[in-house]
Amino acid sequence: MSATTLPVQEAERIDRLICHCFQVVESTIRQAIDAQGADSLNDVLDQTCAGRGCNACHLRIRRMLAGDLDPCGPFSPCEGCGLANKLCECPAG
Ligand code: FES
Repeated sequence: MSATTLPVQEAERIDRLICHCFQVVESTIRQAIDAQGADSLNDVLDQTCAGRGCNACHLRIRRMLAGDLDPCGPFSPCEGCGLANKLCECPAG
């Protein structure tokens, strides 16, 4: 299977960055799940190139697989800077 990605700058304007190590955005993960049938973390990693670095995005990807990406705690991504809210000190967080 091949990876499907949007150009990063274009995608960041409309998408949340899910995997910071490999610059993979929410729509790319969503496409792997909805259009390409990924139903496990490994499927998503194989199809998107996300998640092969620090692994910090695995929880976010698992939550997307479970159908829930709404912020739900200190490790949800800050809307302003993308860091985990617990680490974020930006004005938007
Ligand atoms: S944030 Fe995805 S591997 Fe590091």
